[in-house]
Amino acid sequence: MSANDVKDPNRRDFLYIATGAMGAVGTAAVAWPFIDQMNPSAETRAAGLPVEIDVSSIEAGQSVTIMWRSKPYFIRRLTTKELSEVSKVSLNDLKDPQAADERIGGSEVKDLVIVASNCTHLGCIPKEIENGAEGWKCPCHGSVFDMTGRILRGPAATNLPVPPYVFATANKLIVGTTNPEDA
Ligand code: FES
Repeated sequence: MSANDVKDPNRRDFLYIATGAMGAVGTAAVAWPFIDQMNPSAETRAAGLPVEIDVSSIEAGQSVTIMWRSKPYFIRRLTTKELSEVSKVSLNDLKDPQAADERIGGSEVKDLVIVASNCTHLGCIPKEIENGAEGWKCPCHGSVFDMTGRILRGPAATNLPVPPYVFATANKLIVGTTNPEDA
């Protein structure tokens, strides 16, 4: 696979958002086509408090990046085709076997993936592979992750971690807790 297979992060379908703090819970907004940079307070960053994200603007096939505890996380809404493809991957073919549906969404949300953006090899940021062919490819040493962040091949040994999160509603995602009362 060539470097050209990796999406340019500046393309229209890649959004970058930062999380903002309001009281105990940060708020992040997807503001397309603008980059919405809000600065959480030093206290919020230090405490690693949960952050709230309105995911209503993330369309199928789009990814956004949020920050939590000073680290980036991808949120991607999978297309019907991608959902079908990840469900077909055999656990026997995975280094770090985990069913795709254990890494997708919540009880009422069946198409959102939330994973840490740092490669589990040495921490580089993988980039989305053109056309969502497989998922993300790390530019440093070539690890390839599927659209749920499961390692498919390359030097990384483990999947992209899934952070604690909960959906307070279908459009309100809270990263950093599994307790909906933290909303
Ligand atoms: S840091 Fe990603 S493959 Fe090495």
